[in-house]
Amino acid sequence: MIDVATVKEALGRIQDPLLGRTLDELGWLDKVALQGDDTVLLDLAPSYAGAGGELRPLLLAALAPLGVDQLGMRERPVIPRVRAQGGLPGLERVKNIIAVASGKGGVGKSTTAVNLALALAAEGAHVGILDADIYGPSQPMMLGIAPGTKPGVHDNAWFVPIVAHGIEAMSIGFLLDGDNTPVVWRGPKATGALMQLLQQTQWSDLDFLIIDMPPGTGDIQLTLAQKVPVAGAVIVTTPQDIALLDAKKGIEMFRKVEIPVLGVVENMALHICTSCGHAEHIFGSGGGERIARDYQTTLLGALPLDLRIREQADKGRPTVVADPDGEIAGIYRHIARQLGAAVATAAQLDLKKNPTIVFE
Ligand SMILES: Nc1ncnc2c1ncn2[C@@H]1O[C@H](COP(=O)(O)OP(=O)(O)O)[C@@H](O)[C@H]1O
Ligand SMILES: [Mg+2]
Repeated sequence: MIDVATVKEALGRIQDPLLGRTLDELGWLDKVALQGDDTVLLDLAPSYAGAGGELRPLLLAALAPLGVDQLGMRERPVIPRVRAQGGLPGLERVKNIIAVASGKGGVGKSTTAVNLALALAAEGAHVGILDADIYGPSQPMMLGIAPGTKPGVHDNAWFVPIVAHGIEAMSIGFLLDGDNTPVVWRGPKATGALMQLLQQTQWSDLDFLIIDMPPGTGDIQLTLAQKVPVAGAVIVTTPQDIALLDAKKGIEMFRKVEIPVLGVVENMALHICTSCGHAEHIFGSGGGERIARDYQTTLLGALPLDLRIREQADKGRPTVVADPDGEIAGIYRHIARQLGAAVATAAQLDLKKNPTIVFE
């Protein structure tokens, strides 16, 4: 006879191959069930389809000595909801809002946001993206949404998001026309429009809503960080010292309003010469690692400076959909899975603090 404790014991020490942490450390064995004598049912709640695929052989090997040769795993992950900062009420239909931010523009925030959104979707989550970058909305282009496309309006009160590559998208860019350039918007007008876009969009039930935040750490960004009910922030930076300084300001801003920084993504970390394959750290190396260490957060991943990343995003098919099995998509998927683990960990902390919250 097998029992749950023996199974947990056998599986707890297995390391997730991508995350490098054991299932015990990740808290992924909360729901183990047995069916007869030879079947284990697992609900790797916060993990993903990808994780299931790579973990499966390891799990089966650990279970074989117990006489178990059947492993049932849930197909779609159940992603928990993390409480927003300062007790802000969350959006009813959106479990976790993730703010993707950068201290300054041009570091690859939008490229990272869209690939991360698509990678989370590829891992089995329901995902939306809100392009809140009033200085340069770029999600419509990156998602291949034709210029001039407007979201539908429902009941005179709701915007209907546009679906592209399987994710729901809304952009501040959809609301602009003619010479109504957003750059001249004053703070209150910009934040008002962004809050409206967030709250009056008819999202379907989403596990994650990625917000491509306006770059920088000024009044608009601070107001958004105070008003938008987020689960956590991801900071995008290049390894250049100056960008790192800006990234630190970003991290400090989120800390001030008690939003957990779930991690840092280092973009354009390494350049691989297209003709000779030589790898060069043009913007310096190790910056993302340092900043993550200094601020007790995680370096979620580092993307190379690679022409394909730009070309594919420009063509409306970001790398995660253009080349889903490639090395770069793999880095984005790894980041997505780490983010999933960070969200699950945060939800577990909530659970301890407030036992009434349940995994749905
Ligand atoms: N890792 C990368 N390799 C090559 N080009 C990149 C990479 N990341 C971003 N880019 C390109 O750099 C430019 C700026 O990126 P973008 O995501 O728009 O930055 P931000 O949103 O921070 O202003 C875009 O043309 C984008 O395609
Ligand atoms: Mg941008």
